[in-house]
Amino acid sequence: MSLDEAVADARARYMESNPRSMKRHQEACGSMPGGNTRSILHFDPAPLAIGMADGCMIEDLDGHRYVDFLGEYSAGLYGHTNQTIMDAISEAMQCGVVLGGPNNYEARLSAEIVDRFPGIDLVRFCNSGSEANLMALSVARAVTGRSRIVAFRGAYHGGFLMLDDAHGQLNAPYPITLADYNDIESAAAAIREAGDDLAAVILEPMIGAGGCIPASPDFLNDLAEETRSAGALLIFDEVITSRLSMGGLQAVTGVTPDLTTLGKYLGGGLTFGAFGGKREIMDRFQPGREDGFYHAGTFNNNVLTMAAGITGLSKIYTKRSAHALNAAGDDLRRRLNVCFKKVGLKARMTGLGSIMALHFTDAPIHKPQDVAGLTPQLKKLFHFSMLERGQYLAPRGMITLSLPMGHPEYDGLVRAVECFCEDYEPLLREISCMH
Ligand SMILES: Cc1ncc(COP(=O)(O)O)c(C=O)c1O
Repeated sequence: MSLDEAVADARARYMESNPRSMKRHQEACGSMPGGNTRSILHFDPAPLAIGMADGCMIEDLDGHRYVDFLGEYSAGLYGHTNQTIMDAISEAMQCGVVLGGPNNYEARLSAEIVDRFPGIDLVRFCNSGSEANLMALSVARAVTGRSRIVAFRGAYHGGFLMLDDAHGQLNAPYPITLADYNDIESAAAAIREAGDDLAAVILEPMIGAGGCIPASPDFLNDLAEETRSAGALLIFDEVITSRLSMGGLQAVTGVTPDLTTLGKYLGGGLTFGAFGGKREIMDRFQPGREDGFYHAGTFNNNVLTMAAGITGLSKIYTKRSAHALNAAGDDLRRRLNVCFKKVGLKARMTGLGSIMALHFTDAPIHKPQDVAGLTPQLKKLFHFSMLERGQYLAPRGMITLSLPMGHPEYDGLVRAVECFCEDYEPLLREISCMH
């Protein structure tokens, strides 16, 4: 059986066992292009429609249950039904929503964030990670009086800043010079080229959507130095890496950015974004300043997000639980890599802590271009195969862990991967993916 035939078989089985998801997709296509309102969630022939969830489990419309290793691309850190968070939301709701004034929750959440992230002296809230990055870049341009941004090929900084080859038609029109991730010569050249017009360098300290590829410590240190000696601001997009320790990946790497953007789990599972940084920069938002910035947004301080966010940080994602979850992720990645090695599969899990991604290669991985578009059919087969075994993860192979998970879930994933290797061994050998 060829790889294409194996994918076609798996796809047919998937369609047959998911009639309700297929029907919902058809119906939704009447009112949404592609039946969908988040491009990332689409996959061929149609994604599973989720009917309900509890803990780290989700259930599709046809009644199949899955362990949720997608974890809403990292926003689902608390799982789907954490009682403490649900109680906090209900309690906040009892006092009313859309209040049109400041509330106590936002003051507490901002204080907690300032306490945790070394690069954040002051913070402002918004509604998504995408919005946070737009704000941070605009702030950097306004503060420096310069216009150009240096960013990295294959990076994703939200729906208006997609820096890979395939997307980006709808990007915000910032003048951006792209450099190669983990390549200080390429970055320094881009910084030099931008010269006096460079406002900021933006990057994730571990590139996420581009393949869960950590920045090397030398790269981060040298990049910070180059950026500052060019008179520009260093922005860390910690929308997903913020969960890698209490104070994000910046607290681990020791490189402190001028501005930081946040999102995902920090809103307790509800709509969230934030940007913050050094006092002298963020002070420009002080009301009444002649050179002050105005930052609006009806839902920036919505009580439900603020209540869920502060409850999550103060009562659940403590130093101890952050450490335990990320240690569990390190262990799971190690186990999967041991499993690949044992069966001779040319594959690797990259990542840090509770965020990881699978790549079917044994070549070195330093930047998104090293893995972009690699083995798309094999990834499809793997994805269908995981779904058949009750493991829900991103079609591109990204996995994020959530707090309700434990050994049974991790063991189940390792077993499912072993079964994939056993079932498709002849095929994997034929396509030279196995030694
Ligand atoms: C690194 C990074 N930045 C920004 C965003 C955008 O966040 P949001 O989806 O909340 O707009 C994402 C989302 O996945 C992300 O991974």
